[in-house]
Amino acid sequence: MNREKIAVLMGGRSLERDVSLKSGERVCAALESLGYRVLPLDVTPELVATLRAERPDACYIALHGKYGEDGTIQELLEFLGIPYTGPGVTASALAWDKSLTKRLMAEDGIPTPAWITLTADAFKEMGAATALDLIPDAVGGFPVCVKPTKQGSALGLARIDAPEALAEALLSALSYSDAALVEKWVDGCELAVSVLDGPDGPQVLPAVEIEAKSGLFDFSAMYTRGETDYYVPARLDPDVAAEVERLAARVHTLLGCRDVSRADMVVGADGVPYVLECNTSPGMTETSLLPMAAESAGMSFQDVVEHLIRESLSRKG
Ligand SMILES: Nc1ncnc2c1ncn2[C@@H]1O[C@H](COP(=O)(O)OP(=O)(O)O)[C@@H](O)[C@H]1O
Ligand SMILES: [Mg+2]
Repeated sequence: MNREKIAVLMGGRSLERDVSLKSGERVCAALESLGYRVLPLDVTPELVATLRAERPDACYIALHGKYGEDGTIQELLEFLGIPYTGPGVTASALAWDKSLTKRLMAEDGIPTPAWITLTADAFKEMGAATALDLIPDAVGGFPVCVKPTKQGSALGLARIDAPEALAEALLSALSYSDAALVEKWVDGCELAVSVLDGPDGPQVLPAVEIEAKSGLFDFSAMYTRGETDYYVPARLDPDVAAEVERLAARVHTLLGCRDVSRADMVVGADGVPYVLECNTSPGMTETSLLPMAAESAGMSFQDVVEHLIRESLSRKG
């Protein structure tokens, strides 16, 4: 019987609060059935006082988005001396920033779609007209994907097919984050590739292939049952599958991730898997991709939760 006390951090103030509450509830149920003493904690200003009073053995971070996935909560838990699940402060901060992640990946030779990053300040300084004029050529023409550099769940993200729609998409992305990313749109097979650290280093789980019925894997397609078809393992040629696996493990290591990560990719018509981003607090909801991948590898949801919490407890000082 596991008797350690585990605080499950969920909810909070991010735009992905509701998703996080769903992840958190499932994680709590799994931990309870594993015999842990579970303390579900919606993240409020009282968090520090509660953690100091309750002194959990570890925190399971079921937060998504800003503050939960960007290194903020990780830094706070380091300060309080409480071990937690998932990557540390630096890896979380790097992965949360899609622009920095892409720069690191490009420098490492990991394929990622051509892009430019435009801060809100640069957009103003340069003048919107100049920026709009320069962007399409810089990323190889339309269609492009416009997204906030720091956000998740496809919030503030749009596919743009023509110059007229670019300004509005940029302003929308900039309302979510201090910078926007304009990226070449890659048509192809979309994948989510999860990684769990094991005794022999990063273990890549079977890739999940994603086919949104609407054609766009947006917030609704991510979290509404029946709006997206998933294939696990993905229907890939063996050499592409091997490359996908190699890239997911490489991104995990490159960003300094620990315990878990999930790389989102698109395999283009050229057969190249382009990495879009890396997630350090992957969703744990009913429709989430990491649990799907784990199940295909013979690991139940409970197994994943137990694995992650055991890893964090092993770091207890
Ligand atoms: N450059 C791109 N080409 C094709 N599809 C994209 C591109 N960028 C994003 N997408 C689509 O939008 C979804 C969300 O984008 P992503 O970069 O993973 O950000 P996040 O999941 O953090 O919102 C992807 O899963 C994919 O379906
Ligand atoms: Mg994503």
